Amino acid sequence: MHPRLELTSIPDPATGNIIAKCPDFDILDTKAAIEAAAKSFESFRTTTGRERSKLLRKWYEAIIAHAEDLAILITLENGKTINEARGEVQYAASFVEWFSEEAPRSYGDVIPSSNPLNRIVTLNEPVGVCGLITPWNFPAAMITRKIAPALAAGCTVVCKAPGEAPLTSLAIAELAHQSGFPRGSINIITALDNTAIVGEVLTTSPVIKKLSFTGSTAIGKLLMKQSSGTVKQLSLELSGNAPFLVFEDANLDSAIEGIVASKFRGSGQTCICANRIYVQRSIYQMFLDELVGRVRKFKIGNGFDVSTTHGPLIHDRAVAKVEAQIRDAEALGAKVVIGGKRALELGPNFFQPTVIRDMTSEMKLSSEETFGPVAALFPFDSEDEVVHLASQSEVGLAGYIFSRDVHRIFRVAERLEVGMIGVNTGMISDPASPFGGVKESGFGWEGSKHGISEFQVVKTLTFGGMATSHL
Ligand code: SIN
Repeated sequence: MHPRLELTSIPDPATGNIIAKCPDFDILDTKAAIEAAAKSFESFRTTTGRERSKLLRKWYEAIIAHAEDLAILITLENGKTINEARGEVQYAASFVEWFSEEAPRSYGDVIPSSNPLNRIVTLNEPVGVCGLITPWNFPAAMITRKIAPALAAGCTVVCKAPGEAPLTSLAIAELAHQSGFPRGSINIITALDNTAIVGEVLTTSPVIKKLSFTGSTAIGKLLMKQSSGTVKQLSLELSGNAPFLVFEDANLDSAIEGIVASKFRGSGQTCICANRIYVQRSIYQMFLDELVGRVRKFKIGNGFDVSTTHGPLIHDRAVAKVEAQIRDAEALGAKVVIGGKRALELGPNFFQPTVIRDMTSEMKLSSEETFGPVAALFPFDSEDEVVHLASQSEVGLAGYIFSRDVHRIFRVAERLEVGMIGVNTGMISDPASPFGGVKESGFGWEGSKHGISEFQVVKTLTFGGMATSHL
């Protein structure tokens, strides 16, 4: 690395204390990381799936062995509660375990040809050096969800860690190296002020063959544009605005559990958090009262305090956005039932868990992703009406349906314009399950049997003159 590295301070979102300083990589540093990944790819691509599987398994075991330290890092830099952080480490490790199992089982095809003289065979090959850009809301799990399948496929990676929360990524990458992954196979870039510069180098480099990004739709569009010059393969997991539909025949208790899990996980800072909660009018008041009762029991505070149920938001800009959305909704007629304000006594990044009622489509909360602890309740009357309302969004990542009528569940699920649906559950995260969206939530699938193919290209071999008479 050249000697001009600037250092960025990393604050603890709960206290504002500086917990570390990280290098702000620039153009030259990023190019050096790409070169290292390209050099490593020459040999790493020739390893067998079984060899990569063993390395991934060792990495998985190392993450589990260091789970508590990683959880502490997550809480320090992201603010989520230590219990949530512990859960995230297990979730992060599960992707490494999953792809250790997928690595040796990625088969090509033997395809009957249309020409009787030909035989067709396909090979799944690693796409090449991959650029990965990950978000701060899951500093461990979003890194492993991208790096593990890339390595399983035989690719090497240059991964831009989240500027606000880079420490967990560095620790996880170090564990990978200690587990035997060769130098150069995993390269972590840290940058905050230089994020745009790093993004431009990754998207315009002809050496990078694939870019996988998790973040906002606005940045996804920019990266897509920048990637067009080299016709890079892309996977984009972008913004959500999840509709959460509660029908009058739902089990109310499980709908409440579902909304608490989906809406308030990570203090509302996940892409699949419920954003618009549509409740059928006949049960609207009952649902509201139950939810408010649950939210009243939440305790916000420092994530290391074991009595804390919900931590701070990542920074004051996130708080300001939530606050502005609530004020906009109030101005247009919505009513805050609980919360609705900053919790300044705890620090500038804390916001009270909020339930707001009588929402309508004109309000910003309806069209913008909130990314905060605000449960916005919209009443509806009929199935057709709610499907129409739910599909109004330009994005389509997750959605949720609560009903005991299996016919209704299928009818509605088939009409919702989203990539993932939780049916009678608010927790859909699982390494076995394909994760991805439709519309302006992007494309490509992470996790599951599809995750590895996002990092592969299919090469077709057509053998001619194969008729027995020619032998
Ligand atoms: C995200 O917020 O993008 C990821 C959420 C999850 O995997 O559960």
